[in-house]
Amino acid sequence: MFKRNLEIGGLKISPPLFLAPMAGLTHSALRQLILDFGPVGLLSTEMLSASSLPHENSEHSPYLIRTQREKPISYQLLVFKVDQVERAVEKLLSLGADCIDINLGCGAPKVVKKGGGVALSHDPERLKDIVKAIKALCNLPVTVKIRLGPTPDVASFKDRCLFLQDLGIDALYVHARFDKEPFARPPKWEMAAEAKRVLSIPVIVNGGIFNSEDAKKCLDVTGADGLMIGRGAAIRPWIFRDLASKVYQFEVSNFELPDLSVVWMNFFHYLESLFPPERRIGRLKEFTHYFSQNYAFGNRLAMAVQRSKTMEEAKLRAIEFFMKNKNEHQVNKYE
Ligand SMILES: Cc1cc2nc3c(=O)[nH]c(=O)nc-3n(C[C@H](O)[C@H](O)[C@H](O)COP(=O)(O)O)c2cc1C
Repeated sequence: MFKRNLEIGGLKISPPLFLAPMAGLTHSALRQLILDFGPVGLLSTEMLSASSLPHENSEHSPYLIRTQREKPISYQLLVFKVDQVERAVEKLLSLGADCIDINLGCGAPKVVKKGGGVALSHDPERLKDIVKAIKALCNLPVTVKIRLGPTPDVASFKDRCLFLQDLGIDALYVHARFDKEPFARPPKWEMAAEAKRVLSIPVIVNGGIFNSEDAKKCLDVTGADGLMIGRGAAIRPWIFRDLASKVYQFEVSNFELPDLSVVWMNFFHYLESLFPPERRIGRLKEFTHYFSQNYAFGNRLAMAVQRSKTMEEAKLRAIEFFMKNKNEHQVNKYE
């Protein structure tokens, strides 16, 4: 049996399942939808720019809106310079963060150009100053999320992992793809396993986990202390319940495949009740892009919502799709 509990810098995590930070997706509506099915070891925000974070209003900002039940939660920082750290950490403390994660994996050109994400990952001195500054300002657990690096160079990957551990981080998330690899590529769990081999801090592996078979395989290959789920959580928000039960043998009360139209409508209502009107439709489209993959012809649902200009229009089109596809066998490729 896989180890069911984990501690990260004093924070107890159980089950050892983590929601991945995903821009435009990992927000309060998705987190709540997921929690409707059962607990998650550690929730997350999407990446938050350390420079704009201090100016965000926590009641209106779609990045910061959060309800009391969304705990424990890690806030992911996209940091560029050490002088951004103080105000960003102050803000996170005021928001009740349980953990701070540093993004070293984002390869988007505008982020890399400014020295964040992957670029920071390859700038050890600046990174050292940033981690040191965060740790000096708070007692929260500090984690780092990386990719495997630019090439399959195992020796330098291991060196980089050890360097991060020496900085005093409390856990490492390894997204098992190379720096520039698209998400469609198969994850390289064997290489992520090297991190677990050399480190004594917890190693959480991410990438390509969509069901319990993937999860077990990933744990077998890597020996990871926990698993982080990204797109799989938007496709099947009940995935944490399934993994808790089928992989970690936690008791769960309900195993049924939920009615997909109800899940989608619940997401819709969370958006309507939480977000300012102009912040809803984009998030509905992003979520539906992934969620529609539960259907054999889900691209029709995704397109229908994509074409919509308003929430009302999207709802009508989605209902039409759900009525037409009521009896259609839902794709079980993620089971
Ligand atoms: C739409 C989208 C947005 C993402 N945004 C972030 C982000 O803000 N921070 C981050 O570290 N990774 C981000 N990622 C990467 C995910 O956290 C994760 O590493 C990746 O999706 C691989 O995991 P998966 O195969 O389970 O989806 C994003 C991924 C997607 C699909």
